[in-house]
Amino acid sequence: MDFELNEEQRILQQSVREWAEARVAPFASELDEHHRYPEEQVREMAEMGLLGMCVPEEWGGAGMDPLSYAIAMEEVSRACASTGVVMSVNNSLVCDPLMKWGTDAQKEQWLRPLATGDKLGCFALSEPGTGSDAAAQTCMAVPDGDEWVIDGTKNWITNGPQADTCILIAMVDRSKGVRGIVAFVVDMERDGVHSGPPEDKLGICASGTSSLIFEGYRARDDERLGGVGDGFKVAMSTLDGGRIGIAAQALGIARAAFEKAVLYSTERKAFGGPIANLQAIQHKLADMGTELDAARLLTYRAAVAKGEGGRFGHLSAMAKLYASEMAHRVTHQAIQVHGGYGYVREYDVERHYRDQRITEIYEGTSEIQRLVIARQVLKDAASRM
Ligand code: CAA
Repeated sequence: MDFELNEEQRILQQSVREWAEARVAPFASELDEHHRYPEEQVREMAEMGLLGMCVPEEWGGAGMDPLSYAIAMEEVSRACASTGVVMSVNNSLVCDPLMKWGTDAQKEQWLRPLATGDKLGCFALSEPGTGSDAAAQTCMAVPDGDEWVIDGTKNWITNGPQADTCILIAMVDRSKGVRGIVAFVVDMERDGVHSGPPEDKLGICASGTSSLIFEGYRARDDERLGGVGDGFKVAMSTLDGGRIGIAAQALGIARAAFEKAVLYSTERKAFGGPIANLQAIQHKLADMGTELDAARLLTYRAAVAKGEGGRFGHLSAMAKLYASEMAHRVTHQAIQVHGGYGYVREYDVERHYRDQRITEIYEGTSEIQRLVIARQVLKDAASRM
């Protein structure tokens, strides 16, 4: 077991950190306040190869490993969680399924521009009445000659207002349950699909989230990703990887709050000295630092397992579960350390607290992560009996 990053990963970490500190963090608060999409930052991420990090170079990506992706996600999200989620959706929820399930022709047409950042992607699984129970899809894809006609509404779509391309999950045959589901690559410029108004959210306010409305959208059969009936597997295997990105996002948010709490505790004076001298504050800092490291180890383990190509869904569920709930506790305590100053916009910790909350919900709630983990625990136990 090796706990050291290799040289390439250390250089990446340093360069993304320097860029994020200079070009992302100074604007994060203003973008959040005005709910403004980080357009320039996304363009610069594209130039740096951060939007298709694990896509092989032959398809326009950076050809890096999943651990490098997690490292970069943490750095970007430490500066701005909204910019982090734009990056994570394009990498994990759009480029990844195209790499895994796409034909060479689909990779050429759809993956290459997404990996270079010329286009931006979104992933449409959830619906107004279908969230955790992802198999209960009502958005319908009906065959018509060598085309499909798609009708239905998708909800909570990160990058929905900005995306050029969408990975869509839809139902073909309800009677077949999870085997009646199909995935498509959707061209958002085509007639028959439009995004709803941007959602007014508690956190990650600078990222775009909207519904997508499909009304007679026509997809060619060669725009189908995977076989008819593979759609649920496309969605689930995509989320296995996506959850590593969200774990890394939670790490970045928590680390930002932790670092600010440490700094503040050395500057703020009470009872005759810096509050960092008080055991009550030291215990908080000790717990925050310990939990952050534990979450990072779980996240790195899941990323390495993904890179090795074995089974990793339960490991990414553990990483996301622990990292997102850790970020809840750490951002809460960061406000506590700041006292009243932590509750106002002038100090960033209130933003980190709001931004963290979604990491316990999207790409599977904490309750769903526990379900995925428990199934594996019971399966392992049964295999030992
Ligand atoms: N990889 C590949 N296949 C998988 C899989 C995986 N990780 N998980 C399940 N499957 C397969 C199973 O093998 C099974 O196939 P067979 O019948 O052929 O064996 C089939 O899928 C059905 O599996 P389950 O019986 O486990 O299905 P289920 O209905 O019990 O659901 C669930 C499982 C874990 C609850 C799943 O529905 C789930 O993960 N729900 C949460 C959905 C979610 O995370 N939504 C987030 C939306 S995305 C988002 O947040 C958008 C954004 O923009 C950020």
